[in-house]
Amino acid sequence: MSDLESIEDRLAAWSREYADLPLYSAITANSARDDEVAGLLLSAQPGQARPVLLLAALHDLVLDHPDLPMAQWYSSVVGADAAATGDPWPEVRNAALAHADRLRQVIATRSTQTNEVNRCVYLAALLQRACADVPDLPVGLVEIGASAGLLLGIDRYRTTIEAVEAAGGERAAYGPRDSPVQCLGEDRSTRPAAQLRLPPIASARGIDLHPVDLTDAPAVRWLAACLWPEVPGRYERFTAAVDLLRPDPPTVDRGDMIDDLPATLVRADGDHLVLFSSWALTYAERSRRPQVARHLADAARDGRPVSWITAEPPRCMPGVELPPHLRDAQGGTVLAARRWRDGAELAPAYWGTAHPHGQWFDFA
Ligand SMILES: C[S@@+](CC[C@H](N)C(=O)[O-])C[C@H]1O[C@@H](n2cnc3c(N)ncnc32)[C@H](O)[C@@H]1O
Repeated sequence: MSDLESIEDRLAAWSREYADLPLYSAITANSARDDEVAGLLLSAQPGQARPVLLLAALHDLVLDHPDLPMAQWYSSVVGADAAATGDPWPEVRNAALAHADRLRQVIATRSTQTNEVNRCVYLAALLQRACADVPDLPVGLVEIGASAGLLLGIDRYRTTIEAVEAAGGERAAYGPRDSPVQCLGEDRSTRPAAQLRLPPIASARGIDLHPVDLTDAPAVRWLAACLWPEVPGRYERFTAAVDLLRPDPPTVDRGDMIDDLPATLVRADGDHLVLFSSWALTYAERSRRPQVARHLADAARDGRPVSWITAEPPRCMPGVELPPHLRDAQGGTVLAARRWRDGAELAPAYWGTAHPHGQWFDFA
């Protein structure tokens, strides 16, 4: 099978899997039968010629050129209520071919990544659990693989967690009620927390190989372009968070999340050091991941409480034993923790599972 045929196969499979997304399934289904549009993905770096890269490159184009006729199909440009229905392909194809050079260049140089502000739902839940035995100690929050640092703004957002109906349907909330950024998720735990009370966050700092500066419009637009416009609320929440944080963004150090972590840890203020990773540790080679725990053990040597909370795919967090039903799981998001108290490590803990974008979590 040629490279182009395999790209077209992947586009067709994607359109079938996401048939519930009218715009994106129409684009991928039609591209799969169109050598010129599918062929744009031939400029991708090895292993990157994925349908989502083409979709993100087109979304980036339309966010940059909202006057293009294809924009009428994108709720991120025209608003959810005004997005056109019907067949988007003629306009999308015209734009793709008219801007082919730009699309090839974007596809050759970018890769997709998901920055989902609603992950603050599981971050809030993890933080509350990690702080349960030290509820009054100000937290020095550090995120590895923080990208633009949007999750580090958690105390500037309103995060609301609803218990499932069967557990009483109560709501717990954290953060300023009138924040322009509203995160919402469901607590599916058998015994949901009645309230969401977190200690003050004394400092919030990240580290990333390629931090995104919130004043760098093309870089921020690319992160927005990676979001799927047809999933309600995601694009709007992302842009609201960018606008809120831009004047005073959390610092994200440039560096490797493992080798350069000690330098970031010493810059964190707070009596309880909490390291967080969300869909980021998974990018580091498995053999390197235990080094994170060694850095944290060093940081805990003076007796300060140190916690490491993760929302990552199964088997990503080193040292954490999974329940039998998850040991061979291929997908999903696992919540786990490792903690050091009075200089010694507690038993590593599996805490539960979550939706990858924070729509729900379930503490086991
Ligand atoms: C999918 S994004 C996660 C963004 C954010 N944590 C979230 O959950 O919304 C993964 C991030 O990890 C970063 N990354 C990957 N490998 C890294 C490494 N070795 N050191 C530092 N950052 C890394 C990437 O640059 C990217 O910004």
